[in-house]
Amino acid sequence: MPSFAPVVWRNRRLFILDQTLLPHLRQEIELTSAEAVWDAIRRLQVRGAPAIGVCAAFGVIVGIRGQRPGTAEAFRKDAQEVCRYLATSRPTAVNLFYALDRMQACLNRASDSDMEALYALLEKEAQNIFDEDVRMCRAIGQHGAALIHDGMGILTHCNAGGLATSGFGTALAPLYIAAEEGMRFRVYADETRPLLQGARLTAWELTEEKMDVTLLCDNMAPSLMAAGKVDLVIVGADRIAANGDTANKIGTYGVALSAKYHSIPFYVAAPVSTFDQKTPQGSAIPIEERDADEVRLHGGTLLAPEGVKVYNPAFDVTPASLISGFITDRGIVRPPYPEGIQGLFISQP
Ligand code: MRU
Repeated sequence: MPSFAPVVWRNRRLFILDQTLLPHLRQEIELTSAEAVWDAIRRLQVRGAPAIGVCAAFGVIVGIRGQRPGTAEAFRKDAQEVCRYLATSRPTAVNLFYALDRMQACLNRASDSDMEALYALLEKEAQNIFDEDVRMCRAIGQHGAALIHDGMGILTHCNAGGLATSGFGTALAPLYIAAEEGMRFRVYADETRPLLQGARLTAWELTEEKMDVTLLCDNMAPSLMAAGKVDLVIVGADRIAANGDTANKIGTYGVALSAKYHSIPFYVAAPVSTFDQKTPQGSAIPIEERDADEVRLHGGTLLAPEGVKVYNPAFDVTPASLISGFITDRGIVRPPYPEGIQGLFISQP
């Protein structure tokens, strides 16, 4: 397991590593209300699709506690309200909705009228989501490590590592497992404008884990590929539509186009919980638009004329046709996609 944890449930209290402070400060903060959980997700103090889901699952418990329901009936109503509220924090990562749906379903199944028993059930379900995330990351790592060979250059975009999950990450998991197996390779991390998850988080976590990482600005990736330095691209995902179109951090699409042009394999690593069978294709994925000041300013310093119009989608959609394969916890899925992706669900126990 990585030496840091983005979401920690300790003594029935919820803590997160505040990722907006990295790499300068490694600081844990406690989230004590539904509003604090919502805000932490919205502000990217906790981020990355699986970590958002896990945080929201524990956040449901924190949120109901704040409502102090007097009866089991009020408990159920409050839980529903908290789930609805947390679901409005960010729209794109499907893991958020997956985790909240599971918390809700767990409550719907429960016949208990004792509130302590209901709390315990929710706590167990949130812990299950956490534990499954840890297992899925390892399985993704094991399947993906087979793609990695000595001497490779591997490019990644944004942060889909330990900071984005409860375990080894998704895109970074194959790298961690391959390194454990003694493989030697170089990782290239795109800085990932505007919020610099690649520079602040991926470069930080790979350095912490003693991996060979080189940072580059986003606009340098095509020239790195042209120079023959990239043998493989692995990125994460926030939502994968039924046809394989994939929403991930803004800039992923450009990396995929460039990889295609240079005939470099481009893989998306994600757990089954990131596949959204209810969304038929990429154009139906809701894309989060974020505040213009994230582009105009950095660290409080204005980088552009004040008030200039800004385009700031947090994610883009990479068409399935650019994706060589999906590294999932159930194995690698290759084209043709609607069929391959359906197979993931058919084999579900
Ligand atoms: O806006 P962020 O930092 O939450 O975006 C994160 C990403 O795009 C990740 O690549 C994705 O969530 C996968 S994390 C395992």
